[in-house]
Parts: sequence; C-alpha cells; structure tokens
Amino acid sequence: MMQGKPNREIIVCRDAAALATTVVDKIIDAASEAIATRGRFTLVLSGGSTPKAAYALLAERKASVDWSKTWLFFGDERVVPHDDARSNYHLASESLLRPAGIAREHVFAVPTHLPTSGECAAAYESTLRSFFNDAGDATFPAFDLVLLGLGDDGHTASLFPGKPAVHEKKAWVTWSPPGVLPPPVDRVTLTLPTINSARKIAFLVGGAGKATIVGELLASGATSDKYPAGLVQPTHGHAVWLLDEAAASQLSPEH
Ligand code: 6PG
Repeated sequence: MMQGKPNREIIVCRDAAALATTVVDKIIDAASEAIATRGRFTLVLSGGSTPKAAYALLAERKASVDWSKTWLFFGDERVVPHDDARSNYHLASESLLRPAGIAREHVFAVPTHLPTSGECAAAYESTLRSFFNDAGDATFPAFDLVLLGLGDDGHTASLFPGKPAVHEKKAWVTWSPPGVLPPPVDRVTLTLPTINSARKIAFLVGGAGKATIVGELLASGATSDKYPAGLVQPTHGHAVWLLDEAAASQLSPEH
C-alpha cells in the first residue's frame, strides 16, 4: 500500500483478479460499517468495463452483504435502453443484480427513456432527493461508498474534460453530451459536489492502458478540469485508488 495525499490512499494489487478481490473486500467492509452505524448501506456503482469482474465476485460472495439494508445507485449512465449492451445498468444487471438476486426495489436505475437527457437527469435527481428525504436545502447526499472508474482522458463517471457537467455546482445530477471516448451517446452523471460528499470513494483502475493517465493524475496531483477525475476530492470522506500493477506501472513509490 502507498499513502497518497492526506485523505487519499493508493493500493496496488498484483493483477486484475487481485484488484477485483480488493474491491469486493472494500464493498463488504463498507456495507458492514454503514449498516452497523447507520442501519443502511448506500452504494453507487461505477460504469465501464473494469468493475465487471468485481461485480461477478460480489455476486459469488453475496452472503457477505445484508442486501435487505443495501440500496444501489449508478454514478452515471449512457442514455440508451437498459437492455442495450452499452448500458451501465445492463452490465450491473448481468454481472451482479440478477446473479445475486438483488430485489428491484433496492436498485435505483437512471431513467433513460424520457424525451431528453436533461429530463432523465432531473428525474434521477428527484429520485435521489426522495430517497435521502431532502428538504430541498443545499446539502448533497452522503452516499456510503461511491465506486468510480477512470478514462484514459482523465474523465470519471461522465464528467468529461471540457464539458459543462464538470462545473455543475448546484445540481445533484446532470447530463453531458458524449466525450471523446465511446460510446458516442449522451450521459447522465452524478455531479462533482455529489461525488465529493460521499463518505468513501473508491477508484477502480486496471490495465496498462491506464498507466499513463494514472501516472499523470496521481503524480501531478492534477486538479484542473483537464482531468476531471483529479477534481474528486472528498469533502469529509476518504478516497482510495485501487489499481492493478499494470495501471500503477508509471507511479513512483512516493505516491
Ligand atoms: C462509463 C463510466 C466511465 C468509466 C471509465 C472507465 O459510463 O463509461 O462510468 O467513467 O468508468 O470510462 O471505463 P473502463 O472501465 O471501461 O475502462
């Protein structure tokens, strides 16, 4: 393990399988702590392909989580039908939700069927506000654990470099046109203030293809919107970067 900035921890795992195991251990520990302390566990699932192995392993280890006290959300979603192979809900459903038998009423999918992406984002925000019983004040939801991926352009969730969504300061959820990476469809995404209000944030990054961006991001401490992932700075919580050795190969020991 390497220690990053004061509230940032970096854990390097041997390979993809070890990364998946570490992610699942973190989820199980966070669930146990949240349920013991607050009576429920709110988990935000990441999109992309990296989490697939971790979701499948979590389904195998489903007995380690009290799903009756666990609620699942999505950090971002592609504005496509939920049965579309590009959908983050589809990935989670195939690898975790169905295999683990998680009840639909414990899963809050992002609506993607409304006429505009903006309406999809507003509807999801309304769902979150209802769940967190928000009285409409300025606070943001404190998810117990937010899982995030990292694109090799420095994006996370669907906060793409140079897009307005990165600078949204009031809304809990917003939408974005596509970034430079596929698929070229609109997205719905949690905003940075929402992500940064989480109690725990875990980045899951694997593969040699991410080594350059990981090195640039964690070495330089980049905090410009050039790399939106670098703007993830938990307000009160703690961020851990879970990497495999391939993704960490350009990190120097002191990071
Ligand atoms: C998405 C994601 C996105 C993803 C990164 C990494 O909808 O694509 O949420 O932020 O996590 O692009 O994707 P990979 O895991 O596929 O490399």
